[in-house]
Amino acid sequence: MNALTRNWIDVGALEDIPRRGARCIRNGAMTIAVFRTTDDHVFALEDRCPHRQGPLSQGIVHDGCVTCPLHNWVISLETGKAQGADEGSVEAFPVRVDDGRVLLAVDLG
Ligand code: FES
Repeated sequence: MNALTRNWIDVGALEDIPRRGARCIRNGAMTIAVFRTTDDHVFALEDRCPHRQGPLSQGIVHDGCVTCPLHNWVISLETGKAQGADEGSVEAFPVRVDDGRVLLAVDLG
């Protein structure tokens, strides 16, 4: 995605996201889950499992992935791709932490 078409928005404090958990952000009709790892890295994925649209935000974060709470597919937090033998992906969004605030890049288009 072209950086010029994205807008960085402040979606809250890092401390408001539980470690190994997520917080949901609405962007139009889409819900984006912002995940926090045990070592305070953040990742953002559409909150919609590529299997049957399960809420990834309610899954467990581990090893750079989240396990879907419905049928245990494992999704890469960095790419949004299903791991192992499962196939499919969700959109991943650029996200970063700046001075304790979580900034999410969303599509303006
Ligand atoms: S809906 Fe996520 S594994 Fe089935």
